Amino acid sequence: MAYKNIIVETEDHVTLVKLHRPDALNALNLELLGELGEALAEAQANDKVRCIVITGSEKAFAAGADIKMMAEKSFVDVFAGDLFTAEEQAIMRIRKPIIAAVSGYALGGGCELAMMCDFIIAADTAKFGQPEVNLGVMAGIGGTQRLTKLVGRAKSMDMNLTGRFMDAEEAECSGLVSRVVPAKKLMSEAMSAAAKIAEKSMITVMAIKETVNRAEQLPLTEGLLFERRVFHSLFATEDQKEGMAAFNEKREPQFRDR
Ligand code: HXC
Repeated sequence: MAYKNIIVETEDHVTLVKLHRPDALNALNLELLGELGEALAEAQANDKVRCIVITGSEKAFAAGADIKMMAEKSFVDVFAGDLFTAEEQAIMRIRKPIIAAVSGYALGGGCELAMMCDFIIAADTAKFGQPEVNLGVMAGIGGTQRLTKLVGRAKSMDMNLTGRFMDAEEAECSGLVSRVVPAKKLMSEAMSAAAKIAEKSMITVMAIKETVNRAEQLPLTEGLLFERRVFHSLFATEDQKEGMAAFNEKREPQFRDR
């Protein structure tokens, strides 16, 4: 499908979604977010797709929600219209893994979008921030919640209250990103991580995503029980038989998502 604000390519079991509003540093308006939701739903429904990568441009992953779009909105507009709720849900309902490949600015809603992905690979040029405080508002799709769980209260308060940016090195030390790579290698690193995931059993991969995400929501004993039961349930799959047989026979497994 042709989109206006994103570019979507699927190759070798990986869908790459490139945010594409070059004149606005990929600021997230409702049209872009709607297209992103559609592209992700399509990738979820396509059996050939086994992993998704979201990226932006060299200068900006996304510089936030579109300030021009929000400037004149009233409380009633955003509350009654439930601004950004459907858009967030469209991303969070995707069960296939999503990697964010971040170069340059990931600010406000851009940082929040990256955090909605399953992990973030950052270029050494990446800058993360929740500068909404400078606009007389605050983060609205995870910048006070997901960020606090990822980097802890001290750094989250610092970023949300001062609006300062975190560079890639600090983001890696703080647990916000999983790896930092030279900017030139960002896409090859992200695509090869996606290709690695695409080799696995989709059943296992989706079970892992669901279980790791439970860690943020459940008390430890409940999370451990959920994990154990999902682990047990994977023994009902053919892919468990294949994976373990392949190890014992010293060959590569041929997973069939069954
Ligand atoms: C709309 C934006 C934008 C944004 C940049 N632009 N960020 N338009 N919404 N969030 C536009 C600029 O207006 C400008 O367009 C063009 O992109 C280039 O930006 P410049 O500012 O000229 O670039 P530069 O000087 O390099 O500065 C880069 C920047 C700065 C530091 C990233 O653009 C910036 O501070 N942007 C806003 C960051 C921010 O506050 N984000 C949070 C948004 S609120 P023109 O037409 O003028 O050339 C938010 C709420 C989330 O995200 C809560 C719920 C989702």
